[in-house]
Amino acid sequence: MKETDKAVGIIGLGSYVPDKIVTNCDLEKTVATSDQWIVERTGIKERHIAEAGMTTSDMAARAAKEALKKAGVSAEEIDLIIVATVTPDMLFPSTSCLVQDKIKAVNAAAFDLAAGCSGFVYGLVTGSQFIKAGLYKKILVIGAETLSRIVDWTDRGTCILFGDGAGAAVLSELSPGFGLLGSELGADGSGGEFLKVSAGGSAMPASQETIDTRQHFLSMHGNEVFRFATKIMGEAANRALEAAGLTSEDVDCFVPHQANIRIIQSSARRLKIPMEKVFVNVEKYGNTSAASIPIAMEEAEREGRIKDGDVVVLVGFGAGLTWASCVLKWGKGE
Ligand code: UT7
Repeated sequence: MKETDKAVGIIGLGSYVPDKIVTNCDLEKTVATSDQWIVERTGIKERHIAEAGMTTSDMAARAAKEALKKAGVSAEEIDLIIVATVTPDMLFPSTSCLVQDKIKAVNAAAFDLAAGCSGFVYGLVTGSQFIKAGLYKKILVIGAETLSRIVDWTDRGTCILFGDGAGAAVLSELSPGFGLLGSELGADGSGGEFLKVSAGGSAMPASQETIDTRQHFLSMHGNEVFRFATKIMGEAANRALEAAGLTSEDVDCFVPHQANIRIIQSSARRLKIPMEKVFVNVEKYGNTSAASIPIAMEEAEREGRIKDGDVVVLVGFGAGLTWASCVLKWGKGE
């Protein structure tokens, strides 16, 4: 999708990860795995895990407050809160409503968005449209996950991959030429089986049997998701670049979903983007699903890897199956 009308983009980023760190060596004590296997196959060395009692909305609210501060925007000015998550505090009310109350964004509408690890970019593109349409002026888009609560800690195929955290962005109108230049949102529901939590919804309500058969935990066909990811990341990023009238040679910083270093390297290769231009922090946080891209963007900006005027490409893939990519011209343009 080509972005033609009003310029809309990010004016402030925030992130939060819990203090507690679980290393690969810690996991060696609980499942049949090794630090060497995890590092070689995924690039992950450690992940942050929320202490008991800390929820997705708690982390989302902390990230949101930091983003608001950096943007110089008060909570009352926020018109809409979108929280992308697959680990809401509860089925309802939505996590975005809980965040609205926690940060006292009393004038904001609020809804959750479930698009797996693509959720933040889905939210960014969706939120931008409300500003382009003239309906809203300031929007908070948050990706937040407490994956440690749905991970089966006895399944070595998945428990080594995931971590908890949150990232937030404040969206606003910008000077022409800045912000969102192109995007692509996509889905292939036929791949839903590959990454899911089966029980707890209308198809399989909670029962003793669903608990006994561990169906409230995340299950994944890792190889299928891997194949899908390596193909779609490059394709989706290229189509967003094409919509923006750019090519991969124009990219200053590529911020992919942080799931697995091999997936990131493969998509960078397909895009012909050198690894020096790719932001990677999967070694520190693991896969934080919808939170991974905003956490990475915030860190990239803080470290000076993303600067005003840069062309930044974001691309995510995840449960659904879904994918989402976008091209941003960084800065406010004042
Ligand atoms: O955000 C989207 C979320 N999902 C993803 O991004 C996941 C995408 N998929 C992946 O990242 C990879 O498929 C994994 C990291 C999950 C698995 O890596 P792989 O190279 O595809 O390994 P594999 O599943 O083909 O398993 C290879 C071997 C198997 O043993 P055998 O059958 O060859 O004897 C597994 O049982 O590795 C074994 N294995 C492990 N060994 C040590 C699987 N997990 C582990 C482990 N430690 N944690």
